[in-house]
Amino acid sequence: MRRPVDSDPAAGLSFRRAGREDVDRVLEIEKEGFLHPWSRELVERELDHAWSRLLLAEDGPGGAVVGYIVFWIVHDEVHVLNVASAVAARRRGVGRALMIAAEEEGRRRGARLSTLEVRRSNTPAISLYLALGYRQIGVRPNYYAEEKEDAIVMVKQL
Ligand SMILES: CC(C)(COP(=O)(O)OP(=O)(O)OC[C@H]1O[C@@H](n2cnc3c(N)ncnc32)[C@H](O)[C@@H]1OP(=O)(O)O)[C@@H](O)C(=O)NCCC(=O)NCCS
Repeated sequence: MRRPVDSDPAAGLSFRRAGREDVDRVLEIEKEGFLHPWSRELVERELDHAWSRLLLAEDGPGGAVVGYIVFWIVHDEVHVLNVASAVAARRRGVGRALMIAAEEEGRRRGARLSTLEVRRSNTPAISLYLALGYRQIGVRPNYYAEEKEDAIVMVKQL
């Protein structure tokens, strides 16, 4: 059974949409978390798309930003493009809470499905998605071209 957010170890988190002033912090976490971090341009572009959301997790209202998620809501589908938590804030429920927040916003806006792609080698992320009820529906061979790494495509009914 899924634990409700308010009894999650990350219950102290609050969420808000990112603005231009948050991009530096997002890029910091991005650099910690990814071999090929998103550029400033890419992050800023997501702030401008009507269908895109960049949601931040803060350590309490106005507290330090400890993670973020980028997702699109298009028709009846949430598509998660990116989720990361700061290295110092890992394994305390930030990633899980961000995923649940995105799913809940999707549900409120009529989405029935959530989809994402993840590197085959990304055990922490795959474990998180499986724990949340995502299932593998396919593989995109060599999707991450630089390392010739496959993407696992995962889906969850909302
Ligand atoms: C993947 C990531 C977002 C997880 O964030 P997190 O805040 O540490 O995750 P949570 O604390 O919410 O973990 C929730 C569950 O996910 C699974 N999980 C998370 N990290 C894990 C790890 N390193 N190993 C195994 N399982 C893990 C566990 O089931 C965990 O539940 P538990 O702690 O009760 O065992 C984080 O590791 C990260 O930012 N990685 C770098 C960026 C990245 O790869 N993002 C995914 C892109 S597709």
